[in-house]
Amino acid sequence: MKTIKTAVLGYGYWGPNIVRNLNKLSGTEIKYIVDLDQQKRNQASEDYPSIEVTSNADDIINNPDIDALVIATPPSTHFGLASKSLANGKHVLIEKPIAQTSKDSQKLIELAKDNDLILMVDHTFIYSGAVKQIKSILKNRELGDLWYVDSVRINLGIIQKDVNVVWDLAPHDLSILEYIIEANPVSVSATGLSPENYVGAPLEGIAYLTIKYDNGVLAHLHLSWLAPVKMRRMMFGGSKKFLVYDHLDPEHQVKIYDKAIGKTPEGNYQILSERKEGDMYAPKIDQKEPLEEMVEHFIESISTNQSPISDGISGRNIVIIIEAAINSMENDGVEIKL
Ligand SMILES: NC(=O)c1ccc[n+]([C@@H]2O[C@H](COP(=O)([O-])OP(=O)(O)OC[C@H]3O[C@@H](n4cnc5c(N)ncnc54)[C@H](O)[C@@H]3O)[C@@H](O)[C@H]2O)c1
Repeated sequence: MKTIKTAVLGYGYWGPNIVRNLNKLSGTEIKYIVDLDQQKRNQASEDYPSIEVTSNADDIINNPDIDALVIATPPSTHFGLASKSLANGKHVLIEKPIAQTSKDSQKLIELAKDNDLILMVDHTFIYSGAVKQIKSILKNRELGDLWYVDSVRINLGIIQKDVNVVWDLAPHDLSILEYIIEANPVSVSATGLSPENYVGAPLEGIAYLTIKYDNGVLAHLHLSWLAPVKMRRMMFGGSKKFLVYDHLDPEHQVKIYDKAIGKTPEGNYQILSERKEGDMYAPKIDQKEPLEEMVEHFIESISTNQSPISDGISGRNIVIIIEAAINSMENDGVEIKL
């Protein structure tokens, strides 16, 4: 099978993780790492002496020897770099968010379609063992009907320069929700707070989003760059059971609590089971690094010419929700219909 020759644009915080995982794969070879910053280029040369390092993305985008580009630069550069790459016949894997407007996201989808190319977004978490397991638990109706999802994704920084906390963190929750609950969002309301007074940054560093889905699920996301504790916790409340997904729990990422409210024969609601030892179980989770699974899926999608799970459409769906959330934040949290 032909070796897929790739280049990675951006070697800041996330780019090195992409390179580390892509470099492990067979069937592909990283030919270039590109970064505008001299220090990052020096670091890349030190980390990977056999990979060529350069500052000029255009040269690489125009290089006929390159089959695919991975874009790990800041969100404000995604559309420009991705549209040029697709127009030049390159398959593209782009970091979340795919672009900064749904219009630009749609243009990328069309460019990929017209040129018969793979366009994929790095929605990392949907490639994790935990999220795949939760999807199957919900599909098997172990939780009963899913009623609500409560997510807390908070930590201290990194405060991004070109986007607010919603653009930075919400793609994780929204892509997990899209993948797991397989329903369409119908409305979003959001409120946010700018950390200007704390750190001099102009964009919202805390946000609360409420999203309603067409299957009745209610989701609430708490996002923050200003919390001194790091939490990555999603809670799924069902009619029969309650599931907690704690991405940072090294032992039990997923826990299922056998506790529910149900009707008594007389028609009253009551707690069906009491809180006690044995009410919870934690299934075994595949611990393969999600990013490895993600880059593998990109290369496989190119080889088989199959649309990836997190394709351009999925990327655009997430951007549509974020646009509505920002619209709501700018209008005192009013509910925006999608
Ligand atoms: N999937 C995840 O879990 C995850 C986690 C963190 C970041 N990200 C995403 O990764 C992307 C990058 O984020 P980051 O935190 O690494 O940012 P960063 O600022 O640390 O790094 C970006 C790098 O891109 C370089 N760059 C900018 N414009 C360039 C250009 N035109 N050509 C070449 N290099 C260029 C910069 O010099 C910088 O080194 C963002 O889209 C972010 O949302 C994803």
